[in-house]
Amino acid sequence: MRRSLSAAALAAALAAGALVVPGSSSFASTEVVDPDISVTNAKAHLDQFQTIATNNGGNRYTGRPGYKASADWVKAKLDAAGYTTTLQQFNTSAGTSYNVIAEWPFGDANHVVMAGSHLDSVSSGPGINDNGTGSAGVLETALAYAASGQTPRNRLRFGFWGAEELGLLGSKYYVNGLPAAERDKIELYLNFDMIGSPNPGYFVYNDNPAGNGARDDLTTYFTSKSIQTEYIDVQGRSDHAAFRSLGIATAGTFTGAEGTKTSAQATKWGGTAGQAYDPCYHRSCDTITNLNLTALDRNIDAIGHMIWNYAQKDYGSGPPPGGSNLLVNPGFESGAVNWTGTSGVVPTARPSRPAPGPGRRGCRVTAAPAPRTPVSRWRSRPRRRRPRCRSGSGSTPPRQPRRRSTTRSRCRWSTAVRRRRWRRTRT
Ligand code: PHE
Ligand code: CA
Ligand code: ZN
Ligand code: ZN
Repeated sequence: MRRSLSAAALAAALAAGALVVPGSSSFASTEVVDPDISVTNAKAHLDQFQTIATNNGGNRYTGRPGYKASADWVKAKLDAAGYTTTLQQFNTSAGTSYNVIAEWPFGDANHVVMAGSHLDSVSSGPGINDNGTGSAGVLETALAYAASGQTPRNRLRFGFWGAEELGLLGSKYYVNGLPAAERDKIELYLNFDMIGSPNPGYFVYNDNPAGNGARDDLTTYFTSKSIQTEYIDVQGRSDHAAFRSLGIATAGTFTGAEGTKTSAQATKWGGTAGQAYDPCYHRSCDTITNLNLTALDRNIDAIGHMIWNYAQKDYGSGPPPGGSNLLVNPGFESGAVNWTGTSGVVPTARPSRPAPGPGRRGCRVTAAPAPRTPVSRWRSRPRRRRPRCRSGSGSTPPRQPRRRSTTRSRCRWSTAVRRRRWRRTRT
């Protein structure tokens, strides 16, 4: 259902860098030209969030009118751009909340590429950096994609989460409500929470057990723009954790919250050493003046790079392997204790992939594994002892019907574990 490009759409496509030209890339057999996501437009969205807060008691907190007004406004923008949108309502201890879900109704629905951000603020302020910036960036990227006139290879979906500040409630509600078959179609979830901090750092999430392909694409992108990045282990402090716990590949960027910028960071990034990345984090002063627009622009262009490229990524035919899901929450946003607020390179050593073996979906049963030492810091639970399911050669295994049997199957990994193993070579 490729739509023909009108002259106006072609001009928009050119402006948004939408043209796909032949060449080689890690994503597909075509090279995607990166878009320039408009920081002027993103700033206008932030002005709107500020106005909404100002007109509604100074915040956009769950259960208060400023949150619903934010959700209604974002949904209307996406509706007008041609997205298929849903306002997903759920209850919290602070009152009713809403997720806004927007899908671009073209591309292969078996391969869903998602980006998201939380739309709620804390009660003490308007939440312009946290997380007006992520929301404005994801929104503007979605609008720019629609304006580009492209038909993606994959299905693009954008999520604006409610009640993150109460413990990732909106994103958890969303993933919990997805049928297993729908969860299994999500190839990647990209999260953006605080991307315009006034004393910015350039952090890339490094807590992605399902695969670091998207992380590496982000760092490569920033490097190509001569922006140095640091890895950060965000743990359960933002909404990607809800997706990560299903074994879905995640990645994201962050310009810093309450942590203090070091002198080494000030040397490479500018700004003020010894001061917080965002001194107004969770405070009433997180207003429209609590921004670094250069950091915001760099991060929204990174969102554009990822969306434009993953829209075209060749995931092969058929959905990712499915299975029964075990939603274990590895963390939480409020009062998280296992994230130190420091940054730096996090060890990523993982066991190497075993040799391929025969059997169902490229799996075979071997002797029970010897106890292993934890391989990444995010995993707080001990690994469950299960029959070992060895993944295949790295090529795409044939699509198989999901097993619904309650008896022990031969490859009885949780979806999280299976997808983690499966995706290690794919993202
Ligand atoms: N999720 C945190 C908040 O909303 C901020 C944060 C984002 C912290 C990303 C770490 C990493 O308060
Ligand atoms: Ca830009
Ligand atoms: Zn917050
Ligand atoms: Zn936040």
